[in-house]
Amino acid sequence: MTWNDFKKMAGMAALEYVKEGMIIGVGTGSTVSYFIDGLKYKKNIIRGAVSSSISSTNKLRKIGISIIDSNDVDYVDIYVDGVDEFNKNLMMIKGGGAALTREKVIAGMAKKFIAIADESKKVSILGKSSLPVEVIPMAKSYVIRELKKLGGIPRHRKHVVTDNGNIIVDVYHLKIFNPTLLEDKINSIAGVITVGLFANRPADIVLLATHRGIERFIYDEYKS
Ligand code: 5RP
Repeated sequence: MTWNDFKKMAGMAALEYVKEGMIIGVGTGSTVSYFIDGLKYKKNIIRGAVSSSISSTNKLRKIGISIIDSNDVDYVDIYVDGVDEFNKNLMMIKGGGAALTREKVIAGMAKKFIAIADESKKVSILGKSSLPVEVIPMAKSYVIRELKKLGGIPRHRKHVVTDNGNIIVDVYHLKIFNPTLLEDKINSIAGVITVGLFANRPADIVLLATHRGIERFIYDEYKS
């Protein structure tokens, strides 16, 4: 099986959580694309979707799912999204697709956050790949200097403009032993819109596609 097969397996597994009358929060990325593909078979039973990016909105519209403005609802019943990394406490790094801020807003609105992942995304310590940070353009150099003080190697992600008109700085070579503290510290740097650490609001469930089938990690069971 290829990584895409595992992504598809994870995306499809999330469909069982989609129930009649629900408002569905939809994330961004290749794994969630498979979830969107499957959602077309449930489009007549849901109220609609709150989308985390222009690309997901376009995919959802194409299959006839109505888009609900996040300002018009108080919550989404479930939020389904991919991850770049997750740890045993279901804390995550997200933002590989540069949609982290809208993703974090919808995660905050979600009654249940269902993360979908293949095995490459499971880590013991967050920071294995890089940590994305959305930054307003005029603050780039200042934020990069401040991020260096936290111990990582920040790099501007070239040629990427977020849906909010901002830039992404990716921080490499971090070992994140205290994710909630680092999330708070980075979010307090002026010019940062948000960091792609989802520690204060971890996933409620991770559906992990493996050679053995879907493994379910449930927040309460893994909280330490
Ligand atoms: C987008 C994200 C994605 O969910 C994350 O990058 C995972 O992507 P993929 O499913 O393509 O591996 O956070 O901002």
